[in-house]
Amino acid sequence: MRLSLVLALIFNLAALVFAGPAVKGATLVIYDPKLSKLSDYDNFVKSLDDVKAVEIGSSDIALFINGIRMFENLVILPSKVRSISPHVGVKELVEYVNDGGNLFGVTSSAGAQLDLEKFLGEVGIYTNAKFKLFDHFNEDSTKEGSVLIKDPEFQNKIVVPSSVDQISYSGSAALLSNSEYLIPILKAPKTSYTYNAAIGPVGSDSVWTSGDQGYLIVSFQALNNARVTWLGDDNLIKDSKYDNLAKDLVSWTFQYRGVIKSVSTSHENVVTGLESYKVKDFAKYEIEISQWSSEENTWVPFEADDVQVEFIMLDPYQRVNANVTSSDEEKTLFTAVFQIPDQHGMFTFSVDYKRPGLSFIDEKIVVPVRHLANDEYPRSWEITNSWVYLTSAVAVIIVWFAFVTVFIFSGKAPLVEDGKKKN
Ligand SMILES: *[C@@H]1O[C@H](CO)[C@@H](O)[C@H](O)[C@H]1NC(C)=O
Repeated sequence: MRLSLVLALIFNLAALVFAGPAVKGATLVIYDPKLSKLSDYDNFVKSLDDVKAVEIGSSDIALFINGIRMFENLVILPSKVRSISPHVGVKELVEYVNDGGNLFGVTSSAGAQLDLEKFLGEVGIYTNAKFKLFDHFNEDSTKEGSVLIKDPEFQNKIVVPSSVDQISYSGSAALLSNSEYLIPILKAPKTSYTYNAAIGPVGSDSVWTSGDQGYLIVSFQALNNARVTWLGDDNLIKDSKYDNLAKDLVSWTFQYRGVIKSVSTSHENVVTGLESYKVKDFAKYEIEISQWSSEENTWVPFEADDVQVEFIMLDPYQRVNANVTSSDEEKTLFTAVFQIPDQHGMFTFSVDYKRPGLSFIDEKIVVPVRHLANDEYPRSWEITNSWVYLTSAVAVIIVWFAFVTVFIFSGKAPLVEDGKKKN
């Protein structure tokens, strides 16, 4: 009985650990009924899987129970309520993302949840709902106070592949930090600016962003591949005109798209086939990469020509583009063959593949590279440089022999024979 319990627990844990995006489910939607009824977001909420919607401020909301994360995805809709719940503040939001949870945060000019704004500040998206976007050159004549963005250019095609004719935007704009992990999606128009409607457009404190330094939609991917998207206007998820945009943003943020993983890595010495190297050997490094396809609901080969392999000891001694050598129905095999430098020590094979919009891959294998053994150096006569010295040594020997021979066999030959002299 006990054993089966333990087994069940282990299986549950295993299911939690190995769950791919396929079984990502539980989405928590937090909304403020005083600002908008949940039914206003019907379109949006229906496109999500396995939704649990809760009114903001409810004490039911908990992101973790006994240290286990309760939700894969979290949606926070515009709200004026100060605190999300007694159990959820900025700290919990940070913990949630650190644990791998995805967050889709929406603010609007009607309200922005304070903890959400503080959290966005932590990842480098500085928004303030009090400041509203204005553009006197591109006003939406059909909707007062809205900015008309024609042919909006989405800056990351992996996150938002579809296009929209125009966007009628009424919300705030964000300033961004220079974090590499931010993925700007939509810039504010060049002629726009944000000002605090309560103070008015004039005054040093009243402008938040001006021109295209402001951003209207921004995504973020943490090093653990957790994803965050901020949207400054909830009309973009209310109005069915923008369904494709909303769907793109959500499916990327909740890791249905742009998800890649490394399946395996291996390396070998080209000549010996072993995993040991000495200086100047040739090494072959292989990595298999898969991409999640939500249409086919399976892993498919990942296609790219910019996967780089590095061979590092403090600095990369080699950085080469890996070639695609084969692919089956699930994965692509990337191969790089390169020469190990004339330097012994501990080296690292590294693939550090970080592209905005794709999950990060960071694979490292540490290997020793030995120097040549005593008998692995070339013999002296194989080195042309030594021929000078060898020649002189041999010459000395020959000349010495010649000298000795001459010395021994020659002497003072008497000019006149002894007898003759006496005469
Ligand atoms: C990739 O393939 C080309 C052509 O076969 C080859 O010259 C190059 O060395 C390969 N690159 C690596 C890193 O193996």
